[in-house]
Amino acid sequence: MEKFIGDAVMALFGAPVAHEDDPERAVRAALAIRDAIGAADVGGRAAALRVRIGVTTGEALVSVDARPEAGEGMASGDVVNTAARLQAAAPVNGVLVDEPTRRATEQVIAYEAADPVSAKGKKEPVQVWEARSPQARVGVDVVQSGRSPLIGRERELRQLLDGLARAHQERSPQLVTLVGVPGIGKSRLVWELFLAVDQSQELVRWRQGRSLPYGAGFAFWALGEIVKAEAGILDTDSAAEAEGKLADAASTVGPAERGWVLGHLRGLVGVAVDDGRGDRRGEAFAAWRLFLESLADERPLVLVFEDLHWADEGLLDFVDYVADRAEDVPLSVVATARPELLDRRPAWGGGKLNAQTVALPAMSEGETARLLAALLDLPAPESLQGIIAARLDGLPAAEKELLENAAVVGKVFWTGALTAVGEHDRFTLDDRLHVLARKDFLRRVRRSTVAAETEYAFRHVLVRDVAYGRLLPRAERVEKHRQIAGWLEQLSAERSEDVAEMLAYHYGSALEYARAIGRETEELRGRARHAFAAAGDRASALSAFPPAVGFYRSALELWERDDAARASLLLRLGKALHHAGEGGETELAEAGEELARQGDREAAADAETLLTWALHEAGDQERSERHLARGGCSCGGAGGLGREGVRNGDAGGHPHGQGEVRSGDPDRPGKPRHGRGASRR
Ligand SMILES: Nc1ncnc2c1ncn2[C@@H]1O[C@H](COP(=O)(O)OP(=O)(O)O)[C@@H](O)[C@H]1O
Ligand SMILES: [Mg+2]
Repeated sequence: MEKFIGDAVMALFGAPVAHEDDPERAVRAALAIRDAIGAADVGGRAAALRVRIGVTTGEALVSVDARPEAGEGMASGDVVNTAARLQAAAPVNGVLVDEPTRRATEQVIAYEAADPVSAKGKKEPVQVWEARSPQARVGVDVVQSGRSPLIGRERELRQLLDGLARAHQERSPQLVTLVGVPGIGKSRLVWELFLAVDQSQELVRWRQGRSLPYGAGFAFWALGEIVKAEAGILDTDSAAEAEGKLADAASTVGPAERGWVLGHLRGLVGVAVDDGRGDRRGEAFAAWRLFLESLADERPLVLVFEDLHWADEGLLDFVDYVADRAEDVPLSVVATARPELLDRRPAWGGGKLNAQTVALPAMSEGETARLLAALLDLPAPESLQGIIAARLDGLPAAEKELLENAAVVGKVFWTGALTAVGEHDRFTLDDRLHVLARKDFLRRVRRSTVAAETEYAFRHVLVRDVAYGRLLPRAERVEKHRQIAGWLEQLSAERSEDVAEMLAYHYGSALEYARAIGRETEELRGRARHAFAAAGDRASALSAFPPAVGFYRSALELWERDDAARASLLLRLGKALHHAGEGGETELAEAGEELARQGDREAAADAETLLTWALHEAGDQERSERHLARGGCSCGGAGGLGREGVRNGDAGGHPHGQGEVRSGDPDRPGKPRHGRGASRR
């Protein structure tokens, strides 16, 4: 709960800890509030309570140490303001959501289009939808809309089918666990397996359950779903109805054990609660196994446990147990899990002849391209960010911190840079990086670009961005960017130009955050300024003039007006602008005057000369000729620089044939000079 103001209540989902289904939780909570208010009564009469609810999704600035009880807001940003607008515009007892919220939840919530809402500070009205009701959960993950054809994965599908065939032919239970990062296609493969089973002659019983990210508290949830589905128990059934259906379902169990099995099944479907005493668990496992065996004995049974990484310990034990102990029945267990499962159970599926783990690797580039072409709509970026944030929050603290530190370095980073920001000794660090690579957050780069340093890269730049965004205190960011810059500086003095851009990025970021918290220092300004200037020189030397302009401009902003070196920087900016085809006359003119005043005649002449060209190209013949004279040219007088003269090429037409302008101008000789100048006019 974020705050109460008068009769307004604001709730925040996803902070301080994000879950990948935060939008869904928010809309479900909104609908539950709407229904509860509608049903509220006072002394038997309907209460005259009304609500209007708005839900928005997006990034907000969150301050985790705010004290909501003291009226301090945790979140701020556009998404918060828009939520207030939607709330005000919502119909009585209605829930309005914005487009990102609808996109993230349309699979599970029914919506109706509503009139757009105009919000202060927004040109366009906000698109909104009215949430009606949650859709049934069952079937959401099971049935895939299957818009795109299956790409690749023939081998993995074959492994799944082999497992099934063995279980059925040899009547020996098989466990196949599909392991892979979110979105890699685990559920899709299970769906393909379902289609294959569905099309085969054999009659197969297929039961599926899914563990939830907020699973704690619902022990054996997925198994409960399976039993409920088998018995046909609905959430709306009364306890008596559920009991009756369960008794029917247990009729596959022999009469001697039926009562005992039923007793243990009740706990799973929420009819009675297991008291957990004695060896109740061992007994319950045996009873559940007997039930499943009796089903499989009747007809081949496929049990699917989706998203096992979220399962409680008990369920993991049971899946392991049933695969190990079920006997002489055609039972196959298919599980899907993210790599985190192997953290919790490093030996999952190991040591059993009837178990295999199938890792789903990333698709090849060709396959990805085919898939992208086949997909009409891609996952919305905000839901991707949510998934990433939730995955980060699910990591052990040390690993999460490591990713945040790595994110400060950039998409690519080195172990040395991490030790510079206070990460552990190299051995611990290497271990953790290895674990994170196994979890597919990172990838080790085989050939490091820095000698004697191991290089890693984030698998996806979005992961880097989300991890960076999590590093909250800005003071910490200042410090870390500085430390990394320090590390880069000592890397190799003679190859400093290689790291010039990185240095500019790190000093620039440090300065930016220091400013934001009022801790800018002259020393930091100086470092940033030099780093920007050096990065500009480096970019110019590579003829990358547009970025050079950006670096020089950033440097100039930090330069004192009366600093003598400023003129030289202006000259370099003017040159870069000129070569980038963006003018530069003003800068060159100012630089020329200032350099002349300082008595640096050579540099001043350089500025004047280039200015002559620039003005000439800009079509300003008169000023061009004036500067030509100032540039100290003695090659044919002012009138000698006609259009033809220019077109004749650099060597003849240029007042300083071998001057600095040319040497810093590698892509110009031979190229017609008129093109860019003319198109600007
Ligand atoms: N091999 C594939 N061919 C075509 N579409 C795929 C493939 N793998 C995954 N997809 C699609 O990508 C999306 C995410 O896959 P999903 O199976 O839900 O991932 P996971 O369960 O591993 O998180 C789904 O829309 C799915 O249909
Ligand atoms: Mg899935």
